[in-house]
Amino acid sequence: MDVRSFWLAGRPATGDRELTVTNSHDGRVVGTYSVPTDAQVEEAVAAAAAVQKEAAALPVHVRAEALAHVAKRLAERHEEIAQLITGENGKPIFWARGEVNRAISTFRFAAEETRRWSGGVQRLDTEPAAAGRLAYVSRQPKGPVLAITPFNFPLNLVAHKVAPAIAVGAPVIVKPAPATPLSSLVLGEILAETDLPAGMFSVLPVENERASALVQDPRLPVVSFTGSGPVGYAIMDQVPRKHVTLELGGNAAAVVLADADLDWAASRVTLFSNYQAGQSCIAVQRVIVEESVRAAFEEKLVEAVAGLVTGDPLDEKTQVGPLVSVAAAERVAAWVDEAVASGARVLAGGTRDGATVAPTVLTDVPADAKVSCEEVFGPVMIVKPVASVDEAFAEVNSSKYGLQAGVFTRSLDVAFRANRELEVGGVIIGDVPSYRADQMPYGGVKESGVGREGVHSAMEDLTYEKVMVLTGLSL
Ligand code: SIN
Repeated sequence: MDVRSFWLAGRPATGDRELTVTNSHDGRVVGTYSVPTDAQVEEAVAAAAAVQKEAAALPVHVRAEALAHVAKRLAERHEEIAQLITGENGKPIFWARGEVNRAISTFRFAAEETRRWSGGVQRLDTEPAAAGRLAYVSRQPKGPVLAITPFNFPLNLVAHKVAPAIAVGAPVIVKPAPATPLSSLVLGEILAETDLPAGMFSVLPVENERASALVQDPRLPVVSFTGSGPVGYAIMDQVPRKHVTLELGGNAAAVVLADADLDWAASRVTLFSNYQAGQSCIAVQRVIVEESVRAAFEEKLVEAVAGLVTGDPLDEKTQVGPLVSVAAAERVAAWVDEAVASGARVLAGGTRDGATVAPTVLTDVPADAKVSCEEVFGPVMIVKPVASVDEAFAEVNSSKYGLQAGVFTRSLDVAFRANRELEVGGVIIGDVPSYRADQMPYGGVKESGVGREGVHSAMEDLTYEKVMVLTGLSL
């Protein structure tokens, strides 16, 4: 098996060590990659700093064509990359293909958005003292971006940091998750086919312990991190003066109200509690259901969960595959056991086989059990009955997290009330909290993070407004 190079200032490079990536379902080796040395990391950072002026001044058509090229090449290499994602992450091939489709859209949206990225003008002669003055308001990159990316979407959550950076003309250094670096190395290969200047991107698969030096490097003024809360807040504490964007976790709630279409709600909750084995920050974890429809909903839910096909992630029929590692599955199973020991009832699942946790439904779960108040990141949901809409929304807001919430209702009044009252970054009406369109703003409140991604929002996040005032004009 060939050793994959990493990407140092736009060119392939090898370091002095190699690491392998294995599949959590069957333990097979999926790939081997070369690890950069400290000197090579230094070279990549120096190159990013050196190219920043040239990158910011790149004509829009160069940036747009580079982004469109990436979208095109991802489409051409679609199946190969999907197989690689399933290999390194363990998610079923159906979801891996979906992830490649989403990454294509993310790059396409960025190519389109950069062409619209023109700034604006503001007349200042609204006051007598400013007669003849006009402001041109543009956005300038804050500087080179350090993108630290997670294992759960090893391509699309890299795309969400790389594409907006290129779109605004900011160099970017990617530090992928150690469990899943291979998809980002393929992305590097495709970026290297573009006309972007050397130094504009590097993909450095270094170990987590070596990320701290990159975080603290003053030549990388922007840190964009997706991952766990403790790591994210440690980054923020390390560099309080940097611009830090944190996309952290959640224990997302789906609220099922009495007027909902229960068949639809049960099928969507089932699918999105278990997609990619629950390893998404917006996977359904808490199902809050109005008491009057509880029995009917629970019956449909348990039946739908029993129908899920669990197994080999490369099998076309598999809906629920392994978690990213046996250790991750052991942790999820321990949390389920803890809930059961403290009184929870198992409506479905509750078992583990290697890295695979059976789709699990729990009820009567104490509020302080970890599966209730922490982020499970596994195929586990808890069902909590409530007496009213008031109680349902209070229950959603009882979480320390606030990423997205879903509300199954047919009432427009309740929809707007949910939008006003729920303490989350996104409210999805008529569907699960797991809905995400890659062009929409995405991010959390409370302990789910700070800042927004989604192509346009991320472009704003990576830039600052700059004003040029023109004087002495006849307007
Ligand atoms: C995440 O896990 O935060 C990303 C979810 C998504 O992009 O669908």
